[in-house]
Formats: sequence, C-alpha cells, structure tokens
Amino acid sequence: QRFVKPLSVALCLTAAAVASSLAHADTFRVAVGDGAGSAQHALGLKFAEAFHEKTGGKHDTKLFLNGQLGDEQATINDASMGLLDFSILAINNVTPFSPTVGVLTLPYMMQSLDDAVALTQGEVGKQLIENTIRDAGVRIVGWTYTGFRVLTNSKHPVQKLEDLQDLKIRVPQNEIMIDTYRAWGINPTPMAWSETFTGLQLGVVDGQDNPYLTVSSMKFDEVQKYITDIRYLFSIEPLVVSEAVFQSQPADVQQAIQEAGHAATVHSAKWLVEQEDKIKAELAAGGMEITEPANGEKEWMEKAINQVWPKYYDQLGGKEKLNEILTSLGRDTI
Ligand code: MLT
Repeated sequence: QRFVKPLSVALCLTAAAVASSLAHADTFRVAVGDGAGSAQHALGLKFAEAFHEKTGGKHDTKLFLNGQLGDEQATINDASMGLLDFSILAINNVTPFSPTVGVLTLPYMMQSLDDAVALTQGEVGKQLIENTIRDAGVRIVGWTYTGFRVLTNSKHPVQKLEDLQDLKIRVPQNEIMIDTYRAWGINPTPMAWSETFTGLQLGVVDGQDNPYLTVSSMKFDEVQKYITDIRYLFSIEPLVVSEAVFQSQPADVQQAIQEAGHAATVHSAKWLVEQEDKIKAELAAGGMEITEPANGEKEWMEKAINQVWPKYYDQLGGKEKLNEILTSLGRDTI
C-alpha cells in the first residue's frame, strides 16, 4: 500500500516503552480530526462522559479538536507507536494502514444508516476490528455515523458527470476514492484533511466531498457555494485506541473503554438522525445551493461500481465476499 509507513522494530520498542509509561495515566488524550459541533466531537463527548462514569471517575479523557494533535493519518502512526492514546478520524484515513477496511469506502456499498450500522456492528465490523489491530496497531472501539458525503464546490452547480469535468476536487489520500473520481472522468487532488480548508480557501482546489455535518462544523460554507447531494459514500468515523496503550491497561479499564465506546456508538446514530436535516437546512438558509444529481445518480453509480469495484476484489477478500455482504444487506449481488 502506497501510504503505509512501515514501522521499524526500533519504533515498536520505543512504542512499548512509551505505552508502559502512559499505562496508568488518569487522563487519556483523544485526537479529533474535526471541529466543535461535528459528529466526531459528539461521539468524543459521549465517550468521555461514559468512560468517566464507568471508571468511577478514576479516568478521564481530554479531546483535542481540529487536528491539534496532527493530521488524521498521522494520528494512526502515533497511536500505533503508543505516542497517542485515542483518535477519532474518518475511515477513509484508516484504509491506507489497514486495506480491508476499504470495504467501508467502496462507492455505493452502504446505502443507508441501517446499512452502516449493520456492517460496523455485525460480523464485518468484528473482522475489521481484528484486521486493524493486526495491520495498524490500533483497536476500533467506537463508530461515528456522519451521514452521506456530499460534493461541494465553489464554481457552479453539478448535476451530471459532465459538470464535474472542469473542477479540481480534493480527495483524501485513499486509493478507492481517488479511483472513484477517475471513474467519473477527472483526476482528483489527494490532500491531507488538515490542509483542506486552506486548499479550498486559496483555490488550490475548487471542491471536495464530506457529509453535511462536516461541511458545517468545518465551516466549508464560508469557502464553498454549491452542494450536490450524491450518496456514494456513507461516512464512518471510528474511535480508535492505541493497541499498545489498550493492552497496558488493567481488565476493568479495558472493559470500560469497550463499554463507553459502545455507548458512544449508539449515541452517534441517534445524534445523526436528530441533526442532519437541521444542518442541511441551515446550510441552505446560509446561501449554499443544494442540487440533486441528474437521473437519480444512475450514471455516477454505474461508472463507480463497474470500474472501481473489480479493481479491489482481491484487497477486500474477493467478489464472493462482497456478494455475501450485499446479500446480508438485502441487496442484489454483483
Ligand atoms: C476526509 O475527507 O479526509 C475526512 O472525511 C475528514 C473527516 O471528517 O474526518
């Protein structure tokens, strides 16, 4: 994988030493990629409250918003080395470190919040948690449900793929998402999340995609005018704990982490349902123009599924595996 930073044995040893020195910290540090009012923030607050309660007030967490502890992808490296306790970040920024997680960034795989909950909290989610511990040295203990990523840009309304062709679109450093835009006929610009607002503001890129809740909490409405309500990716944003830090905790604290993560996950799904329409209406009232893709997004969907999925069959466990997942979601196989 292109973006994986291999960890040397020396770094792992340092990690173990750092983790053991942090092992009994009263306050754990949580990196949060997004800002105040975001779905990530809501999950973090709920986790902090539940964790405090479940440890009888012995342990607390401190949230560092807006990427203060580093860009989302960098936080995975830090957590894997035990230099950071927790991180809340978009799943697309985990995939480069644990390729099978890419199933959650496959275009049009999830078509509703129910699909997202079924995948993350069912058998697929369990397997992805194991794989992420093995590949990336972090354990997923909670899931944020942030809603469908919508396309924003500063230039003009986009309904058809034709309208996309003159736009420079920022994407995360995620191969599946890069390939999706290529299937749609453009070469997108991979850019770290921490640089995205400035990139849009300075016109380095014209647009990007992220959920309504993120567009609002990151204040993208200040630098973007048009939204296209595409539904190609339902954004999942896990809470991960450094596996080195997790393993250095006593059993009761490990259990409190897992239980608080579950409470935060349940809260996140409810919070999305309460917030999303309200935030969408606020963005429209504030002057953003929201358009539906032409013809029910058929063209977008066909191109993405036909051109992107086959390329990732091997990485994601084979076509049969994907068909099993589709069947479990009650959908047609491919
Ligand atoms: C991204 O586009 O890199 C992510 O969705 C950012 C985020 O909201 O965490």
